Amino acid sequence: MLKNLIILSTLFALPALAQKDLPEGPGKPATVRACTGCHGAEMFSAIRLSQAEWERKVANMTSERGVEITDADFATVLKYLSTYLAPPKANATKVPEAK
Ligand code: HEC
Repeated sequence: MLKNLIILSTLFALPALAQKDLPEGPGKPATVRACTGCHGAEMFSAIRLSQAEWERKVANMTSERGVEITDADFATVLKYLSTYLAPPKANATKVPEAK
């Protein structure tokens, strides 16, 4: 019984954990929606890429892996990724510290 409870609570905790990996910011909900359907946020939350590189990455996700995303979401997600998951240098002046 206790074991089942532990397994159950682990299952429920997983989506929350996946989201916690991503910094708070505008565009996060759209990013979570578009990018965590097939794998967790940890698949990309640790990578730091420039905007051009993110654009290529997301475009690749769309064409190669069948990610379905509207143009509006694509723009939102790209802005979020290239703002909050940018390389440290590009980051230094414009990104507030993630809380
Ligand atoms: C339709 C399913 C699907 C969705 C939605 C999806 N991905 Fe993926 N993604 C995959 C698959 C499949 C892999 C390969 C997994 C593996 O290699 O284990 C992958 C791997 C990745 C990788 C690591 C491999 C690489 O190419 O660098 C990154 C980064 C990534 N995804 C980012 C994203 C981002 C950002 C989004 C949101 C725009 C997203 N994914 C949405 C299916 C998806």
